[in-house]
Amino acid sequence: MKSLQSWPEPVVRVQALSESGIRAIPDRYVKPPSDRPSVVSSPMVKEVNIPVIDLKGLFVGANGPSGPDDPTLRQINEACRDWGFFQVVNHGVDPKLMRMMRESWREFFHLPLEAKQRYANSPCTYEGYGSRLGVEKGAVLDWSDYYFLHYMPQCLRNHEKWPDLPPSCREQIAEYSKQVVELSGRLMKMLSLNLGLPEDFLQRGFGGEDIGACLRVNFYPKCPQPDLTLGLSSHSDPGGLTLLLPDENVPGLQVRRDESWVTVNPISDAFIVNIGDQMQVLSNAIYKSVEHRVIVNSAKERVSLAFFYNPKSDIPIAPASELVTEDRPALYPAMTFDEYRLYIRTKGPRGKSQVESLKSAR
Ligand code: OGA
Ligand code: NI
Repeated sequence: MKSLQSWPEPVVRVQALSESGIRAIPDRYVKPPSDRPSVVSSPMVKEVNIPVIDLKGLFVGANGPSGPDDPTLRQINEACRDWGFFQVVNHGVDPKLMRMMRESWREFFHLPLEAKQRYANSPCTYEGYGSRLGVEKGAVLDWSDYYFLHYMPQCLRNHEKWPDLPPSCREQIAEYSKQVVELSGRLMKMLSLNLGLPEDFLQRGFGGEDIGACLRVNFYPKCPQPDLTLGLSSHSDPGGLTLLLPDENVPGLQVRRDESWVTVNPISDAFIVNIGDQMQVLSNAIYKSVEHRVIVNSAKERVSLAFFYNPKSDIPIAPASELVTEDRPALYPAMTFDEYRLYIRTKGPRGKSQVESLKSAR
């Protein structure tokens, strides 16, 4: 594995490129024709959307007796198995906080470059302000900048590595993360029950309470040639569960559905939830992490907040023995998440190649 100490080329902020007024994007951002957005999206799929699920009235755990017959649990079960993606409304996270958070981050990205550069990141931990994923020299890059920070485990939570501007940003990150972790914990229970297992099953599989949780805020600047590039290349999320707060007004996320890409239509104040690779491994592929990517446009910038709920990073994650049978042997070898995520951190986003390669290695 290559050294992850520094970037292989000088870092270029995509936002600065965009704001310079160029009419053509540099070659570094031009994707091969087969990866470009227009080639595979067909007008037909515009009508479809990922399932929208209302969590109002659904109580799992101490608060109520929801069982596998609960209609909401059934909807979640179907969405997890069929799409790997769904939106949730009435999820318990304060919508005002969600909007404030998104607008604070928009403000952050509109600060002068020097203010953001104080937080410039390195591929060693990825924490801070970044503009690429992967360290391969000469790689074709994505049309986005981002900010990555840790909320959990507690020992990695370092407020100094969170932006101090705009002034309320750190406070909002703390409160938002607390609420999103709570929602993630509830979802973990629902997914456990839907596997026919005790509600604390997946949480225990992830290592208990002090799991990993981190935030990646994506900033997709306007792009003069959106047909030639992607805001974020196709990938599956390496972690457990992802809760995405998208830009309310600008679609961009596309989810793989067989051979086509479905553009997600974001619902006001909803979260987009998706299954990550670690959940696929732990569930022995009953739940599948699904490929997704982001397209950009020439008229509007886009901000999204991806919150990753991950297993404890130093424990081996393998198919749960309860889900391994003679008919369905363990599909993956055990691996820690620390080890697992080195792949995307080195090579950048590459569809589902990592989790698939684990499978074929056996
Ligand atoms: C991600 C991601 C989607 C988006 O950050 O992993 O898939 O809409 N983001 O920004
Ligand atoms: Ni993703």
